[in-house]
Amino acid sequence: MTFPHTASRSQAWSTQEIVESIRPKLRRVMIVLNNKGGAGKTTTTANISAQLAAALHAAGSSKRVLAIDLDPQGNLGLDLGHQGKPGDDEGQSVIDVVEGTGGLHIIKDVRPQLDVVPGGKILKRITASMIGTRSIDPRREILLSLAEALAEVAHDYEWILIDCPPNLADLQHLAAVAAEYVLIPVCFDQGAIQGLEGVSEVFDVATRLNPSITPLGVLLFGFDRQHLRKIRDEDGDVIGLKEIGFLAKKRREIMEVLGDSGIPIFQTVITRAVNVADQCRKHGRVFAELADLTAGSDWKRHAKQHQLTLSTESAETSAIEMEEATAEIIKRAMTLEAEAYA
Ligand SMILES: Nc1ncnc2c1ncn2[C@@H]1O[C@H](COP(=O)(O)OP(=O)(O)OP(=O)(O)O)[C@@H](O)[C@H]1O
Ligand SMILES: [Mg+2]
Repeated sequence: MTFPHTASRSQAWSTQEIVESIRPKLRRVMIVLNNKGGAGKTTTTANISAQLAAALHAAGSSKRVLAIDLDPQGNLGLDLGHQGKPGDDEGQSVIDVVEGTGGLHIIKDVRPQLDVVPGGKILKRITASMIGTRSIDPRREILLSLAEALAEVAHDYEWILIDCPPNLADLQHLAAVAAEYVLIPVCFDQGAIQGLEGVSEVFDVATRLNPSITPLGVLLFGFDRQHLRKIRDEDGDVIGLKEIGFLAKKRREIMEVLGDSGIPIFQTVITRAVNVADQCRKHGRVFAELADLTAGSDWKRHAKQHQLTLSTESAETSAIEMEEATAEIIKRAMTLEAEAYA
């Protein structure tokens, strides 16, 4: 499905006019950003998108979720399973939007009520596209192009999520200009904490064209589960989890980096589950879907045949964590929305 792009409008309207006309339509756009590679951006985007779409479907809502892959690696296509399938244009339509030659290409229904704009290797052309000569101020026009294209389709979507690449500033800026909220996954690696600096640089550029951009919070990703100690009541029932050791230290360290910025670190931690993650990417499933799959007898045969060590419980644990993280993230977004648009 391809939507026309209003390339001419950017040329005729002032920046303020464009921003004022598109921002109200983009209140539910969340980008997932950390300049560091392997911080959990794509896994988080795929899982939250699939979960939100499943919740809308279960509630009988007609609204949908749109997941956008802005990474030349195209890993969102692996996690959601649309890579290499009909409709996968490897990011061509995003380049068309940036160059003003076409509209966004949306693959409908990769899951019930979940649509996708595919990414992939064609997005590597972005830097060359940024040096276009379409208008007097080409960079402004290009930076606003994705936001404008999304504003045209946003009425169909309850949420639009954008998976950002690491290190590629041009694509990160494009996403940030469209964003209302920025979700920042941070993994245990020191580089992921340093990646927060990259996030703040992206904010600096984006705020000039997007006064609404708001950091949603930091999601701790890929930490060892042994650093979550179970708290039990007198009867021995688990009533909570206490962070210890490396995880507790990292949370403190990130809190220090965030200082008085007001950016929260979400309570839920996505713990390390390498086999679960491998199987998800290999089979194009999100955690909850893998948990369902691994609970079946077919899987047990498959796992035995391929000597897979994945247990039902670990996929389920990852699924529950992601569900809790999603609930926290959406709750924070709703609180911010209520405050901003009261
Ligand atoms: N809970 C988990 N535990 C361990 N590894 C995980 C977990 N979830 C995902 N992974 C794996 O960690 C790797 C990095 O995750 P992901 O691709 O989501 O990060 P990213 O920030 O998008 O990376 P990039 O910057 O390269 O785009 C992937 O191989 C993914 O399958
Ligand atoms: Mg990624």
